[in-house]
Amino acid sequence: MKLEFVIEGMDFTRAGEAAAKIKKALQLVGMEVETVRKSVIVAYEAEMNIVIHARSGTLTARVYPDRVEIEAADEGPGIPDISLALQEGYSTAPPHIREMGFGAGMGLPNIQRSSDELHIDSKVGIGTKLTSTIMNRTSGV
Ligand SMILES: Nc1ncnc2c1ncn2[C@@H]1O[C@H](COP(=O)(O)OP(=O)(O)OP(=O)(O)O)[C@@H](O)[C@H]1O
Ligand SMILES: [Mg+2]
Repeated sequence: MKLEFVIEGMDFTRAGEAAAKIKKALQLVGMEVETVRKSVIVAYEAEMNIVIHARSGTLTARVYPDRVEIEAADEGPGIPDISLALQEGYSTAPPHIREMGFGAGMGLPNIQRSSDELHIDSKVGIGTKLTSTIMNRTSGV
């Protein structure tokens, strides 16, 4: 199963919709609760990063029996230093974004914690592509 959503930068009225739809779809096909939880964290934080930091992008979820792959690809400013961006508390979000409750610098660290595999490719001035894999560990009953 493949789910794909177009995400527009600064569109706060629809922000989080794609992650919510991915959550419903994963629950419908009966993925493990823990898989759904991690996938939603990754999808939501990646979606919000496109909304807040990029011009536009796509959020794609590919669902397999043993894993979920979340891909977020955007056109935007890119990330000059990815290892710095992955540090807890690092954020370039301006004051008006922080007033909305974003910009704690916790999105990428949470994505990393929730991912079994994470790749981030970014070109400054071009955009960013994030690919996360979340394994669906069955409870073994
Ligand atoms: N898609 C992106 N395009 C450009 N820069 C990004 C993107 N995603 C993250 N960044 C950069 O990495 C930094 C850290 O991202 P992270 O998601 O951890 O924190 P945040 O978005 O600033 O705040 P929070 O996620 O806690 O609301 C951002 O402040 C931004 O500078
Ligand atoms: Mg973020």
